[in-house]
Amino acid sequence: MKPILPLLMLLSIPHLATANAVADSPETTQVLDTIIVHATQPTNSDAPFSFDKSDYQGDLTKLPIGVFDSGIGGLTVLEAILSLDAFNNDNLRPEADGRPDFANERFIYLGDQANMPYGNYAARRKEDYLRELILKDTLFLLGKRSFDMPTSTKPRFDKPPVKAIVIACNTATAYGLEDVRQAIQKWGIPVFVVGVVEAGARGVNELISPTDAPSTIAIMATVGTCASNAYPKAIDRVTGLAGKRIPTVIQQGSVALAGAIEGDPAFVKNPHGSNSATIADYIQNDVTSLVENYRQSGPKEPIKMVVLGCTHFPLVEEEILKAFERLRTMDSNNDGKLPYQQLVAEHLQVVDPAKLVAKELFRRLAADRLRLTGTQASILKEDSFYMSVPSPNVAASLKTTNGDLTVEHKYGRETGKLYVEDTRVVPMRVEMLPESSRKLIQNRLPQVWKRLGK
Ligand code: DGL
Repeated sequence: MKPILPLLMLLSIPHLATANAVADSPETTQVLDTIIVHATQPTNSDAPFSFDKSDYQGDLTKLPIGVFDSGIGGLTVLEAILSLDAFNNDNLRPEADGRPDFANERFIYLGDQANMPYGNYAARRKEDYLRELILKDTLFLLGKRSFDMPTSTKPRFDKPPVKAIVIACNTATAYGLEDVRQAIQKWGIPVFVVGVVEAGARGVNELISPTDAPSTIAIMATVGTCASNAYPKAIDRVTGLAGKRIPTVIQQGSVALAGAIEGDPAFVKNPHGSNSATIADYIQNDVTSLVENYRQSGPKEPIKMVVLGCTHFPLVEEEILKAFERLRTMDSNNDGKLPYQQLVAEHLQVVDPAKLVAKELFRRLAADRLRLTGTQASILKEDSFYMSVPSPNVAASLKTTNGDLTVEHKYGRETGKLYVEDTRVVPMRVEMLPESSRKLIQNRLPQVWKRLGK
């Protein structure tokens, strides 16, 4: 067996368990109020993090739909949206009709790569800064402002605004969904917002039957999502409302897996030799830590269900399942006893919230009469993909040798500096992504690849 302890040390970040992600402090309210005012001041119409409310008058049907995540993870949600065929496109009945449900719609995707991992802000007590980032992502989607290239001297203003927003990130949903909804309500624009956590809880609920024996559900997510307790709360609520037995929920926060999936050299084996851990190492350690902690908490029923509570994780779903299976059949003490066999069900059920998010998006568009039907066409010819990059104006001392923001800078920033753009949004091109993430998209997300990989 591979040694797991050195990597497990990475996971033991103090005060994670107590980080309260969702409490409203006076500072938090101020973050929201400041950005709400900044975003629509008439004198600010060209400023960063602003949008023009007059774009939201009249018929919005032809506008694209915005989807955002901290990185490429949200592309797993976009893939589910693009490939959904759960409805009849003509009469809206819940039956497949052989046509993609969003055939006429176009999408604008944003991955906030320069500021990720979102999952690690709470552990550094930077929840408010994370909330500001989530509102900035929203403002990018509502506005028209972007940059041609990382080195462009001026922004351009031709990106179309969006008619709906999907927060395709569990961490951003846990920390920012309510802020985004409140801000949109204060701006008085008819844009609805769909998040991923509630959808995950509904996915769990669908798999539990009222006659089931007690079961345990494992949430694999970022440390931030776990610290927020968004999943245990949502599962309690949804299963309770459905009159079902509330399952035991255990959580494993991963410090590094999302970053490793992004190919971020801070987290994963890289040619400069500064890190030798692989994606498989992180998965094995996260799964081992989860099940071992569960074992130590006393005899229980086996884990039956695993929720992929980070949108990056469906990209490595097979590897996660293999890690559970490996543990289940592992004779760790070479004594013929299998210490984890009783703790992991032989056939694990996997919940990926993405498909439920796609269905919710369809229903909301239909209910708000915002769907493009028949031969109606979006104002956007093709889906467009954007990502954030560090601004060239950031001092070299605040960047790593790869050009990324240093960890100290990333997690040392203060809220409220809305005219300072240390990152900027540019079109995402496949060659800008590390080869490893490019391959994951190509192999696992065919609909997205068709559009992005052109
Ligand atoms: N994809 C994001 C999520 O679903 C998290 C990745 C990150 O930590 O930035 O939570």
